Amino acid sequence: MTTRAVITGTGRYVPPRVVTNDDLTQWMDTSDEWIQQRTGIEKRHWIDEEAPVGTSDLGLEASKIALERAGWAPEDIDLIIFATLSPDLFFPGSGCLLQHKLGLESTPALDLRQQCTGFIYGLATADAYIRSGMAQRILLVGAEVHSTGLDISTEGRDVTVIFGDGAAAVCMEAVETDQAVGVLGSVLHAKGSMAESLKTDAPASREWPRLTAEMMAERRHFPHMDGKAIFKEALRRLPEVTKVILKQTGLTKEDIDLYIPHQANMRINQFYQQMMKLPEEKVFHNIQRYGNTTAATIPLALDEAFEMGLIGKGSTVLFLGLGSGVTWGANIHRFPE
Ligand code: UT7
Repeated sequence: MTTRAVITGTGRYVPPRVVTNDDLTQWMDTSDEWIQQRTGIEKRHWIDEEAPVGTSDLGLEASKIALERAGWAPEDIDLIIFATLSPDLFFPGSGCLLQHKLGLESTPALDLRQQCTGFIYGLATADAYIRSGMAQRILLVGAEVHSTGLDISTEGRDVTVIFGDGAAAVCMEAVETDQAVGVLGSVLHAKGSMAESLKTDAPASREWPRLTAEMMAERRHFPHMDGKAIFKEALRRLPEVTKVILKQTGLTKEDIDLYIPHQANMRINQFYQQMMKLPEEKVFHNIQRYGNTTAATIPLALDEAFEMGLIGKGSTVLFLGLGSGVTWGANIHRFPE
């Protein structure tokens, strides 16, 4: 018998406020046509300006659903892994805030800052903890509140139109089995030489002081992206990492029931599908409804794919993504029969 890390519950939560592409035109020079053509996005959810909530609050709602589906009480969790690039506070991490909101007193909480690949790194980390015996039940959360940190003027339109707020969580459990189930493999990469391609560089501990009116006037507290460089890197890395993980796990592309890529731009995922010669229905998209929720996109898509009946018992799913860092990677997970 081998110890395997198996996903036993999923949940998602997005704030109720919907922001359509047309809504964005009141603040910036953009259009529904441009956004849909270039990204596939129709709308996204943003937190309510009048009653703002933090990333850990969105994570809490998603976690409650995942816990219920896994049949766990919060006390059953022996590690929280929280992936986000938009933590509630500069420090401490959102994992600690979530731990308290779940009513827990000393359960360890680990934050991961891997941006769009936060869930992929998180799944690999949870798998390593479980297989080493360091944890038996891990709550892995991907959550973001982007909306409070976006430049909603025309200057920031290339980045602002793509981001949405949202959260999703999975419960991961140690299962003793002879079957090849749970996380079958993970491949992780980073390329810090491209760090400048997608970043928010203020407040910054390398500046003295960390945030000044001048920095804000230069709009350095908003995200900036070299969209074309990231797009190109994604089209190179996503097929590459897929081939590596399939080889590593001894699977073929036909063995995968559903490919769940990070939802950064529908065109990236459509090019990926064509480059990999995959049938259209095997590559999941939900960017139309949520935009790019960064660390939340993959678990959010997983939860929806379940609900839509696209996957179920026995399904083999490949997660993959590339984003700020740049970081990229993939995991394969098989659900038990
Ligand atoms: O999840 C993190 C990883 N991120 C990604 O994977 C994102 C990868 N990159 C992308 O998705 C695309 O590069 C974007 C969607 C961000 C931008 O699309 P693009 O096709 O690369 O457009 P562009 O930045 O080259 O801009 C083309 C034109 C420019 O106008 P000119 O110079 O040709 O007159 C922009 O000013 O489109 C203009 N533009 C816009 N127009 C209307 C840029 N943003 C907008 C906008 N609305 N929101």
